[in-house]
Amino acid sequence: MIQSLRGMNDILSEDYERFTHFINTATDIAQKYGYHFIETPLLEETALFKRSVGESSDIVGKEMYQFIDKGENDVCLRPEGTAGVVRAFIQKKLDKAGGTHRYFYHGPMFRYERPQKGRLREFHQFGVESFGVDSVYEDATMIMMVSDILKALGIGYRLQLNSLGDNNCMPDYRNKLVKFVQECGDEICEDCVRRLETNPIRVLDCKNNSCQTLYEGAPKLINCLCQNCEDDFSSLKKILEENGIDYEIDTNLVRGLDYYSKTAFEFVSDNIGSQSAIAGGGRYDRLVEFLDGRPTPAVGFAMGIERLMELIVMPEISRDGYFIGAMDAEAVDLVIQLTQKKRKTDKATVDYKAKNLQKHLKAADKANAKFCCVIGSEELRNGTIWVKNLEDKIEQTINIGDF
Ligand code: HAM
Repeated sequence: MIQSLRGMNDILSEDYERFTHFINTATDIAQKYGYHFIETPLLEETALFKRSVGESSDIVGKEMYQFIDKGENDVCLRPEGTAGVVRAFIQKKLDKAGGTHRYFYHGPMFRYERPQKGRLREFHQFGVESFGVDSVYEDATMIMMVSDILKALGIGYRLQLNSLGDNNCMPDYRNKLVKFVQECGDEICEDCVRRLETNPIRVLDCKNNSCQTLYEGAPKLINCLCQNCEDDFSSLKKILEENGIDYEIDTNLVRGLDYYSKTAFEFVSDNIGSQSAIAGGGRYDRLVEFLDGRPTPAVGFAMGIERLMELIVMPEISRDGYFIGAMDAEAVDLVIQLTQKKRKTDKATVDYKAKNLQKHLKAADKANAKFCCVIGSEELRNGTIWVKNLEDKIEQTINIGDF
């Protein structure tokens, strides 16, 4: 039997209800914050991700679903959503138009990672990107939006915060860090040797315990910020405090993608095991220019829907609509007509086969219908339908014309 690929899941039945509940809740909140929907292709030129997410990242280095298509184009299934949105923003010349542009999106992302609980090769993100606002209020507002979405879904979280500096302070810090790591000698892992060449700051994100121990005394970026980054970071913390958002400073939070500067944040859950990041984002003021657009400040985040589905507290779903069945084969045609009539205004499900009352009641209960409606030979003769309200248990027989 052909099975789905490793790390790629079907979403159906109860999972689908959780999935749509998440999408509806997040969409509603994003729209309240003034964001508009954007859809970008799943497939993009590989160069887009190499230049944005960065050659030094694990995503580009090891995890891309990359192939040459029939037209000899080097293409890649998107591993994340930001790069495509930035490409669309530049392609539509919105960078030249100026002003503020705010988008949200959701859809599948693909990373060839080692699958485990909470880590898939095809997973879904809900993401938000804001262009044109060079204010730390936008960063704070974005964090508050994630917090609102999580609260609406009944999900507890811890917020981790860092500043990654900018072009003024980052180069100096990078030199200090490289010097420190080089002094650690041969003890650092192979990945960190590579990171020293490509993007040294990512050594701080190394998952290897012995590297982590070595880097405990490493210089902290947060102590090397220039005045502007320092001021922005202080303002961010103050705005969050004033709005009742708790946070922890994590000086090792560097994020797995290369495009960030200044604000970086991650929301983690303590209730889903080792893959605990449920949302992540930050500011990426250099990316639009880096992808050949006009310099445009930008900030965004994405949430991992599968991880959130583990945590969502579903609202109680009340009974809804009609279940309609025949107890006599001769009543089936009428039952179908009545179901079609009801569907103009209500949810209605039908059984095409004549069955006894107990079976129809059971099926109606399973379908979570509010009313179980049945026509047998007696009702057919009298032009009536038997209706039971499955909430208050009241039964009545009504004329077909009034149904
Ligand atoms: P990211 O941190 O790579 O950021 O991914 C965001 C979220 O996607 C993670 O916090 C996690 O919940 C989920 N996620 C990532 N990889 C997997 C996986 N293999 N399986 C299941 N869930 C996963 C980004 O993608 C950035 N584009 C976020 C952003 C938007 N930054 C600015 N704008």
